[in-house]
Amino acid sequence: MTTEIEETLVIVKPDGVARNLTGEILRRIEAKGYQLVDIRMLLADRELLEKHYAEHEGKPFFESLVEFMQSGPVIAVRVAGHRVIEGFRSLAGSTDPSSAAPGTIRGDLGRDWGLAVQQNLVHGSDAPESAARELALWFG
Ligand code: RTP
Ligand code: MG
Repeated sequence: MTTEIEETLVIVKPDGVARNLTGEILRRIEAKGYQLVDIRMLLADRELLEKHYAEHEGKPFFESLVEFMQSGPVIAVRVAGHRVIEGFRSLAGSTDPSSAAPGTIRGDLGRDWGLAVQQNLVHGSDAPESAARELALWFG
């Protein structure tokens, strides 16, 4: 079975940037063999984050999530490769860093800090439709 090259949106969240883990996270993506196509550092505003996390609007963690994502600069990265959407989610590990498998970004580098929202270092698009939507939001 052959597959097309896909693109996904990866975000190094404010905790990853503040802890100087950007290089380590990008190193893992490159070491896996994926291509960094575009990259930008920015302070995301509320409007962008509300659109980005629209699927979570109304959930109990939504407000603290949007606040956390505005708490410092983030790095948005356009990453390309065959099955990269699935592949990066696998590199990232499960949402909760306390139970994310060792060997993953969240499992190796993340932990629970006792805060209102899971600080889990990275975001990765979860499907081709969300990747297209999110890449348009963050890269225009
Ligand atoms: P992401 O979208 O950031 O790649 O993470 P994900 O798919 O693994 O997790 P998702 O369910 O989409 O949740 C988005 C982000 O919201 C925060 N969150 N906190 N109960 C909680 O405290 C909670 N649940 C979710 C996390 O930062 C999660 O990555
Ligand atoms: Mg998600």
